[in-house]
Amino acid sequence: MNLPAMSKNKNGGRVRAIENDLKIGAEVDVVVERVLPGGMGLAHAAGQTILVALAAPGDHIRARAESKRGRTLFASIVEILEASPHRVEPLCPYFGRCGGCDFQQLTYEAQLAAKAEIIRDCLRRIARLEPPPDLCVAPAPNAWHYRSRARWQHHAESARFGYYARGSHEVCDVSECPVIVPELQETLTTLRGKLRAGSLPDNLLEFEAVAGDGCAVALTPPLTNANSTEAMRVVGDDRYYFSADCFFQINHDLLEPLVAEAMRFASGDTALDLYCGVGLFTLPLARRFKDVIGIEANRTATRYAVRNLKEANLMNATIETAGVGDWLKHHANSLKQIDFALLDPPRAGAEAEAVKGILRLSPAHISYVSCDPATLARDLRSFIEGGYELEAIAAFDMFPQTHHVETVAHLMRSRS
Ligand SMILES: C[S@@+](CC[C@H](N)C(=O)[O-])C[C@H]1O[C@@H](n2cnc3c(N)ncnc32)[C@H](O)[C@@H]1O
Repeated sequence: MNLPAMSKNKNGGRVRAIENDLKIGAEVDVVVERVLPGGMGLAHAAGQTILVALAAPGDHIRARAESKRGRTLFASIVEILEASPHRVEPLCPYFGRCGGCDFQQLTYEAQLAAKAEIIRDCLRRIARLEPPPDLCVAPAPNAWHYRSRARWQHHAESARFGYYARGSHEVCDVSECPVIVPELQETLTTLRGKLRAGSLPDNLLEFEAVAGDGCAVALTPPLTNANSTEAMRVVGDDRYYFSADCFFQINHDLLEPLVAEAMRFASGDTALDLYCGVGLFTLPLARRFKDVIGIEANRTATRYAVRNLKEANLMNATIETAGVGDWLKHHANSLKQIDFALLDPPRAGAEAEAVKGILRLSPAHISYVSCDPATLARDLRSFIEGGYELEAIAAFDMFPQTHHVETVAHLMRSRS
């Protein structure tokens, strides 16, 4: 489709005929300007914002409008008219159909640059902060075969086994996945073999697998007694046991630098580890502080956190199974001085009650570990309005081939 014609207004100026809105199904030639939080490419045509899936900044493409929200169109690429210099051939044959990766079309350098830009964009627009000029994303040692956790879907009727397809709950049949670690690939191959042999129960629709040190893969639900139900990973001096039923970071190659960064300003006597999972940060905190409290809602995770502390002989940390917001609401007033608060919430960010509770405790330092720059920026705004200053920010590419990025923000209580 052609762009709406330009016409002259009564002062002789040229205006776009914006009444000629692009409709769903319309095709339009655009240049992708940059990648936005969420991973879509930004383009403009006919006075409208167009978000293009799987695009590279600088791509000149023909895009088709697939859906619309307000005046924003969501589009797919019909044809690449001139490829961006940042574009590469995706490695995976399922790329575009599978819902897993959305950055394989970018060179690795362009992925890192796009992620740094996503963080800057969120800091400026949402947190209303000027990002540090040297903000960059630390690369992953392995841009492929790094994922130590996978969730696979099984559609018995069509004998498909793999991941959800992009934007749907259809199962995309996947036999090889280039982002999972080799141990998980072996498990995927075994499960697919069982499906072909008719020995995969029809009622088991979803599997979650995690890999730890050695070759052990923990599978939920387990298929045989031989399937391990837990995995273990050594990080620094500590051993962490976990299972597929609870959270553990998926990129183990970057765990040591991530933990070191989160601890960068850790000092004082008392610390909180909010959303503590199986204790990835609780153990190093317990080595530095006299008293540590870890709070986590998932009971399986808290059982592992207690066990991981015990195996490390760390008796100065207690673990509470509770929602962070709820727990702080009921305990913040009765807690003694907290010097350091670390929080690592899920993608949705910290609950409003959690932010309020931390502000009430007023620790000298807050270390915020986040896997979503937009919710991080929203919560940073609240902390800044509550009397904190952003001291430093660092980012790690925990999720190569996707738009996701891990960020650690350090906040200091303002002196004034
Ligand atoms: C991103 S993970 C971080 C876990 C841990 N810090 C780590 O790095 O391994 C977020 C954790 O928050 C937990 N969680 C989610 N919502 C919660 C809530 N409202 N209160 C407490 N924990 C919650 C999840 O179960 C998960 O373990």
